Amino acid sequence: CGIVGIVGKENAEKIIINGLERLEYRGYDSAGLFVSDKQNHHLIKAQGRIKNLEEKMTDDVNGTIGIGHTRWATHGKPSEENAHPHTSQNGRLVLVHNGVIENFEEIRQMYLTDDTFYGETDTEIAVHLVAALMENEQLSTKEAFQKALTIIQGSYAFALVDKEDGETIYVAKNKSPLLIGLGDGFNVICSDALAMLDQTSHFVEIVDGEMVTVTAEGIQIEDEKGNNVYRESYEAQLDLTDIEKGTYPYYMLKEIDEQPAVMRRLVQEYQAENGAIKLDQELVDEVITSDRIYIVACGTSYNAGLAAKQLIEKTTEIPVEVHLSSEFGYNMPLLSQKPFFIFLTQSGETADSRQVLVQINRLNHPSLTITNVAGSTLSREAKYTLLLHAGPEIAVASTKAYTAQIAVLALFAKGIGEVKQIAAAKDFDVFHELALVASAMETMISEKAVISQLTEDYLTGTRNAFYIGRGNDYYVSCEASLKLKEISYIQAEGFAAGELKHGTIALIEDGTPVIGVITEAHTGAHTRGNLKEVESRGAKTVVIVSEELARPTDQLVLPNVHPLLTSLVSVIPTQLIAYFATLQRGYDVDKPRNLAKSVTVE
Ligand code: G6P
Repeated sequence: CGIVGIVGKENAEKIIINGLERLEYRGYDSAGLFVSDKQNHHLIKAQGRIKNLEEKMTDDVNGTIGIGHTRWATHGKPSEENAHPHTSQNGRLVLVHNGVIENFEEIRQMYLTDDTFYGETDTEIAVHLVAALMENEQLSTKEAFQKALTIIQGSYAFALVDKEDGETIYVAKNKSPLLIGLGDGFNVICSDALAMLDQTSHFVEIVDGEMVTVTAEGIQIEDEKGNNVYRESYEAQLDLTDIEKGTYPYYMLKEIDEQPAVMRRLVQEYQAENGAIKLDQELVDEVITSDRIYIVACGTSYNAGLAAKQLIEKTTEIPVEVHLSSEFGYNMPLLSQKPFFIFLTQSGETADSRQVLVQINRLNHPSLTITNVAGSTLSREAKYTLLLHAGPEIAVASTKAYTAQIAVLALFAKGIGEVKQIAAAKDFDVFHELALVASAMETMISEKAVISQLTEDYLTGTRNAFYIGRGNDYYVSCEASLKLKEISYIQAEGFAAGELKHGTIALIEDGTPVIGVITEAHTGAHTRGNLKEVESRGAKTVVIVSEELARPTDQLVLPNVHPLLTSLVSVIPTQLIAYFATLQRGYDVDKPRNLAKSVTVE
């Protein structure tokens, strides 16, 4: 979910709508806002996209204070009723929430006597609790909010307005992101700096457990004990043009096209003047003395971890395990003697990954977050951070973050392997190789017309599709199928090619599309054999293959790159296949149903 708010500026409603549009990537099941000019209060909600909310805005809706919310449903179905803001029964308090309140049943039983619920969400408990504390214990709004925070368990970012005051937004966070933005004569709040970049570039972080009182004149941060806290603001290193679509029809296409530039930027960012890799010495020392690297991540980031496993092992000679955050946290495997943890996360906010980091910190194991967002929660809480420098990624389906993650892991592995004097690392001229990757990516990106046609020929009307490969080609197949299913809704799976015959081949029917990825000489012939097996059972096959292994009938030929970096290039046509399949089916490429880009609940 995404939250925005502003106090002290005319046309608050327009600023909120604008901000919500920028936060739409965080969820778009329903949206709502509250604005007030102190005399007139307006609460508007709509199911679905922000544009539905915008259509409901009449001319009389304006004010100088307001809060808004875009939702990704957790408790309660996406509906207007369950949209935020939620109001207390006496109508006085208005609140938006991002996160999950875990003890809402207990709160209901202990603090709320009558059944006051209008909808089905856990959030309503929070606003009713504050109202009940005000009434039963004669507390001020602020005191009641502060007390409610000591009772509520779970993850949250809250923004609360008392209509009778109309000049203050009370905010607090625990595990969910929230920032304060500083303006001249006004102040803002937002889940992500992107939302309010046109208002300010100066932001103040809030630490879990703190409560902040935001007015037009200033902000007051208090810790859990009520002590005042002073924190410097920082300047967001983001440019508004980075978050505009420009002439592109969809962010996803823009982000696919940006990948060669991201590779080149990474070369610049990570190359020291003497040509070495820029890595913190302490980080290097900790990694070289570790006996195992654990990569922990979700979704596309998890697939990037898999794709980099082999390259890290070969260049550093340190064993690597890749784990799903949502599994690892609750069923932690037996760890090695000296583990080193890498958290891969585009957003730096994913709750599943963060809960693992919290445990790892408790165990005092060293950790590194590789993320696209400087200052994000996982970046702050891990010991070390390496940035992806990919620029904001807005499309829900991740593309440039995936390739940037593999590239940063390649740079990291080279840096470590060189210090350890591993021969494979010495021979791996990563800067030069990434520059070649950038050109190879460009070649594939320029094949859009061919890929669009191929997608039409092979995927039109299909219910399902499979990608197969071995080794790194298998890992790319996993990412390729995730991309295809999340935006085109084609039931797609990536399979280890050799495993097909042990069960999966039963799924092959007449006309089932099967796409083989082949970039490794030592497994290529076997994968080709597996493609023949499915063909003889009716499958329509496509081959994505490195130039050196290509045969005349293969449909998509990739320029050769370093054997450890082939995923960076082979994934490009699969991203475009997902893009075109989605366009051809008439779906919204950037905002697939049921998903959100940044998931801050476990
Ligand atoms: C969400 C997104 C995925 C993403 C995953 C992990 O589910 O829809 O695209 O891969 O979160 O996100 P992270 O920001 O941690 O990489």
